[in-house]
Amino acid sequence: MIQIPENIAELKSYKPGKPLDQIIKELQLKEVAVLWNNENNFGPSPKAMNYVTTSLSNSHYYPDPVCTELRNLLATKWKRKFEEVAVGNGSESIFNNLFNAFFENSDELLTCSGTFVAVYIWAKANNVKVQTVPLAEGFGFDLDALYNAINDKTKAIYLSNPNNPTGSMISEKDLVEFIRKVPNDILIIVDEAYYEFAHDLSSDFPNSASYDYENVLTLRTFSKAYGIAAIRIGYAIGHEKLIEAIMKVKLTFEPSNLAQAAGIGALSDTEYLKNTIENNSTEIKKYYQTFEDLNLNYTPSFGNFIMLDLKNEETVHFYFEELMKLGVFVRPLKAFGLPHCLRITVGIPRENEMCINALKEITNKK
Ligand SMILES: Cc1ncc(COP(=O)(O)O)c(C=O)c1O
Repeated sequence: MIQIPENIAELKSYKPGKPLDQIIKELQLKEVAVLWNNENNFGPSPKAMNYVTTSLSNSHYYPDPVCTELRNLLATKWKRKFEEVAVGNGSESIFNNLFNAFFENSDELLTCSGTFVAVYIWAKANNVKVQTVPLAEGFGFDLDALYNAINDKTKAIYLSNPNNPTGSMISEKDLVEFIRKVPNDILIIVDEAYYEFAHDLSSDFPNSASYDYENVLTLRTFSKAYGIAAIRIGYAIGHEKLIEAIMKVKLTFEPSNLAQAAGIGALSDTEYLKNTIENNSTEIKKYYQTFEDLNLNYTPSFGNFIMLDLKNEETVHFYFEELMKLGVFVRPLKAFGLPHCLRITVGIPRENEMCINALKEITNKK
């Protein structure tokens, strides 16, 4: 038998729940609200789709491995040089590639517990130890604890801003203060997957893509505000030395022609983006009002999702099951290390109405 390395053997395989179609059939649901993955339920950006359609006819050629056009557009948008932008098969793929690009020997990754699960998975898959400190009170990143936890092996620090799944954010002032304190041979990965939403929800939200620190790397994605999660396209912005290393280790023809085209199209779809962001900022308030009326404990969020603290796993399970029976799909957060919490994505108005009505019905019968 082939010996499977311990770090891979210990990884739990991804176990998807029942497929959505099957649940809909079994529960005989007439209408559903899919609010479990922080996707954009307006559907993909139409301009992105137009570009994909045009690009399809070139699918017999390999895609541009340098991703010239998309990187140029992103560089212009964020006022950076072309050499300071990398693209990949979603920001998760870029994150995974960071281990190849920057880690060696016993280098460790430092982050908080209660953040994006993929971080722990890809670190383990790459045989990199993750050192964690607990989230601060209020479920935000504890920057002081992170700073105090830095040791000789710390190669990089991962920050999710805003944090998925809790929704809390690190302000401009706190982030800059932290970056200035951390030794500059430690890479600071700032994952801003929900940047577009956060920027609209708070004037204090930092734009780390505009920073000029040689050890800061910003990750962004087209999966959320631009609505093209299935196409797989994300990007990184940082010092050109960091970007050069990332571009060296990515698969030669990653991302595909369709993904590059979708990104190019999405960037031009300002109307779609504006509508998406406005919807989120308006609809999120309806949830807050509902949670207050129902006495449900929530964390104010700077993304397109909100976390409820239901105090125990049993109550989370109860809400999850009951919501599902009413056609509303949300995310219990046990896998994120928060078994007493539930995350709800802010959807389109009709879905939010369904979810809010369902929450009222369930809470009242509890
Ligand atoms: C914090 C965070 N980073 C990254 C991602 C993944 O983005 P992508 O689809 O670009 O891989 C997600 C998706 O849920 C996320 O929540």
